Amino acid sequence: MERRLSAASRRSAPSAIQKLSHLAQRVGAVNLAEGFPDFPAPANLKAAAAAAIAADLNQYRHVQGICDVLAETARRDHGLDVDPITDFVICCGQSEAFAAAIFAIIDQGDEVLVFDPAYETYETCIELARGIPVYVPLDPPSWTLNEDKFLKSFTSRTKAVVLNSPHNPTGKVFSKEELLIIAQACQKMDCFAITDEVYEYITYDENKHISLASLPGMQERTIITSSLSKTYSVTGWRIGWACAPASIASAIRNIHVKLTDSAPTPFQEAALTALTSTPDFYLSLKKDYEVRRDFVLQLLKDFGFHISFKPQGSVFVFAELPRSWQLTDNLEQLVGVGAGNCVQNMIEFVTNLINNAGVAAVPGRGFFHRNFDGESYHHRHVRFAFCKGDDTLMAAALRMRKLADSKGTWLIGSSRQEDQTTSASCGSV
Ligand SMILES: Cc1ncc(COP(=O)(O)O)c(C=O)c1O
Repeated sequence: MERRLSAASRRSAPSAIQKLSHLAQRVGAVNLAEGFPDFPAPANLKAAAAAAIAADLNQYRHVQGICDVLAETARRDHGLDVDPITDFVICCGQSEAFAAAIFAIIDQGDEVLVFDPAYETYETCIELARGIPVYVPLDPPSWTLNEDKFLKSFTSRTKAVVLNSPHNPTGKVFSKEELLIIAQACQKMDCFAITDEVYEYITYDENKHISLASLPGMQERTIITSSLSKTYSVTGWRIGWACAPASIASAIRNIHVKLTDSAPTPFQEAALTALTSTPDFYLSLKKDYEVRRDFVLQLLKDFGFHISFKPQGSVFVFAELPRSWQLTDNLEQLVGVGAGNCVQNMIEFVTNLINNAGVAAVPGRGFFHRNFDGESYHHRHVRFAFCKGDDTLMAAALRMRKLADSKGTWLIGSSRQEDQTTSASCGSV
């Protein structure tokens, strides 16, 4: 009956990139691929979840206290006036909040603008709702919003703009000026904005997260989605939320109830403990991640990557292969693809990183959706996640340095030679 499966399920089949994840697991690679923390969640959160289970809070439930705290936080941090009773939907992570939001507003043929590169799941949700994702490229090296390209992407069928800031995979935090451009366009074209703010508390240096909903005229048309996952290192707890004006939140709630009914009860209870963490918690979160970011940046630079953009937020470095790193004929024979098939080659680059260095990362190509031959930067980025414990980061550093120092085929074209040659072969990378 396989031939009777839906087109949507075929489009959601595991990509080559997801298969790399399995390879990494099989060979026991140090995992800098996936964006989940591998260190423990805060002890008080774990205790709160365990206590909720012990207290038999095991049935369907809506924990109103979460909405009360979130409403206070939105007022304090973003000046938003939100009603905790009507304006929130507690969901199974940002992922379900986003899906329910899309199902609540998208009809067949509606266009949804998404910045490119983008976190992978938006596209599937939009397509499942029979909407059309329309990608707006961000300009490298700083992944800047190009006002002209953005405004030209609107049509009479544009229903919503998706904004993820701080951004996966680039680490960009959208500036106030960029947000104003987005806000003005949404109002002029009478569109929704759906924000993904899961990295809201993870910003670096002088960069600050501004919620699009806080800009004049935006709250009435913005659906904020976020979750506990990244801030509290509990991606498996599946607690997230959508926040929107009452009538929109009600539509999202109706979908959410049909999809999952409610988020996991013990973890909703523990969310109350998480969301009332002291200011110190958020300060040390940033500081700890800043140290990890700088460590991985240095490691990648030493290995020979070109870092043209220092992450301003989130937990990723989107590193670029130096121009001098060419893929060998040998490699192309190995993978059985012709010269110039950069997608395969980049996948092979990461396959080799997994096999030879024992370190897993994600080929950047999977985050880009527009296909232009001229845009070689699509094929030259690799995403490394640094939301990892000291042991993991140290193990990755040891393995990558060992490989770089081995003077094997990998080293040719490394940073030490980067500026001297543009045509050197890079062995197995
Ligand atoms: C940008 C972004 N949004 C959402 C998610 C998933 O969030 P949740 O675990 O709350 O579903 C991720 C996870 O990597 C992400 O990077």
